Amino acid sequence: MSDPNIDLGTDSTQQGDVSAADTENALPSYARTLSWLSLLIIVLTSLGLSFFISNSARETLLTRQQEFARQLVENLNSQIFRRFAVPTLMAYGHIALRQTEQYERLDQVVHSVIHGLPLERLRIYDFSRRTAYSTNREDLGRSGLAPTYIDEILHDGASRSEILASIPQWQAPFRVPLAPGSFVLRILSPLRGEPLSPAGDAPIMGALELTQDITDDYERVLTFQGIIVVMCLMSSVVMFGLLLMLIHRAERVLAARMNKTRQLENQIHSNERLVSMGRVVASIAHEIRNPLGIIRSSAELLQRRTDKADAGTRRILSAIYDEAVRLSQTVNDFLDYARPRQPRQDLVDVNLVLDQALAFLEGDWGRRQIAIERQCEANIFVHGDKDLLYRAFYNILVNGQQAMDGPGIVRILAKNDNEGHIRLDFLDSGPGFDATTLPSLLDPFFTTKEGGTGLGLPIVQSIITSHGGSIELDNGSEGGALVRILLPAVDARQA
Ligand SMILES: Nc1ncnc2c1ncn2[C@@H]1O[C@H](COP(=O)(O)OP(=O)(O)OP(=O)(O)O)[C@@H](O)[C@H]1O
Ligand SMILES: [Mg+2]
Repeated sequence: MSDPNIDLGTDSTQQGDVSAADTENALPSYARTLSWLSLLIIVLTSLGLSFFISNSARETLLTRQQEFARQLVENLNSQIFRRFAVPTLMAYGHIALRQTEQYERLDQVVHSVIHGLPLERLRIYDFSRRTAYSTNREDLGRSGLAPTYIDEILHDGASRSEILASIPQWQAPFRVPLAPGSFVLRILSPLRGEPLSPAGDAPIMGALELTQDITDDYERVLTFQGIIVVMCLMSSVVMFGLLLMLIHRAERVLAARMNKTRQLENQIHSNERLVSMGRVVASIAHEIRNPLGIIRSSAELLQRRTDKADAGTRRILSAIYDEAVRLSQTVNDFLDYARPRQPRQDLVDVNLVLDQALAFLEGDWGRRQIAIERQCEANIFVHGDKDLLYRAFYNILVNGQQAMDGPGIVRILAKNDNEGHIRLDFLDSGPGFDATTLPSLLDPFFTTKEGGTGLGLPIVQSIITSHGGSIELDNGSEGGALVRILLPAVDARQA
């Protein structure tokens, strides 16, 4: 008989494997690109967000400082005009700050206003852009200290503010703590008197420059910005980790599914191969059955005719006869399996079939010291073919006998489980089913016995399923092989 595992479809299987491998390779690279892309998006979004938040914090700081400066300038304007300009004009007829007395008077007014405020320096420029007043007396009378845009302030009355940095802004985050004076806010505003008429504009008397060291505030914004960036990066890393975990999990699930699909495909291929091979082998078996019958009967005839022949000839004839019997049994078994007979639908008393099978074995089992323990309910009926059921029970019992290989006990339990089934348990006292080969025992031609065909259990399965039942192989709780058969029960009243 041919080897059922001959690979007839090698090409198609290999093609299947290649395409499956391609898909498998494509998946991780796709997942990897997706992970890195998501990391890039998360990091860019986090950085953009942190830049936006810290920038608005900086803007808020500037606006707050400018508002403070605006109010200070207004206060200074009014105080200088009332407490210095008017009394000085009345006393001296003109304003000349180079005169110590006038300077000190103005200095007094200015200091009374800015006292306790975080101002670094205050200067007043006149229309010739010279320093008319400064909290630092050495600047007095000096020109060239005013910024270039002072004309806008003197002529247009506009105000301007700017941050003067002694280090490049991009270096600042890396040079924390910053040296005092690293960031200075300069605000330039017109110095105005009182309006000449209620509806008119107040006249511009000069330009007022305030400088304030905002390094501390700036440093706080930088620290805040640093915290946001670090937190964003940390949350990005956590999110990325989670994403990676999810992707890997999905990958594993997908790989497992693909594996299963491939296994199923392979199984379908091998089943198809087995089916077509089974058809070929069945027709060959059918063809050799008749000549085999002739060989067997001829060998039997020759054996009878050669009673007086020498022992060698008789041995050869007996070997021909025995092997022909064994071979026809195998061929018949195979044909039963490959082309199962449609079972009759007679009303069958299960106990009678068991009686029949045990009666056949009893003599032999007596000699082998195999005891039979039988607990079978009376009146258990099924619809089916008693010859086929006999064959199935016989195969199971003979397997038990072969497994025990000597004295032992075979227990048979049969009952109606009241769930629509007749349950038959065959339990022997042999070594039990081997767990590693258990999944293959119902495969045709699987055998561990020398001279076995491996068709016994597949034939049992085919007979039982053709009766609408099922078979289960297991081991008994106290050892030994347990073959459990369920058959559709027939209501005893119908029987
Ligand atoms: N009662 C049992 N205890 C332990 N192993 C068993 C038992 N019945 C079957 N087996 C195992 O299952 C295998 C398949 O059994 P199956 O009846 O299909 O074929 P076989 O008995 O090997 O050959 P054949 O039935 O043609 O004599 C056996 O070779 C054996 O390894
Ligand atoms: Mg067997």
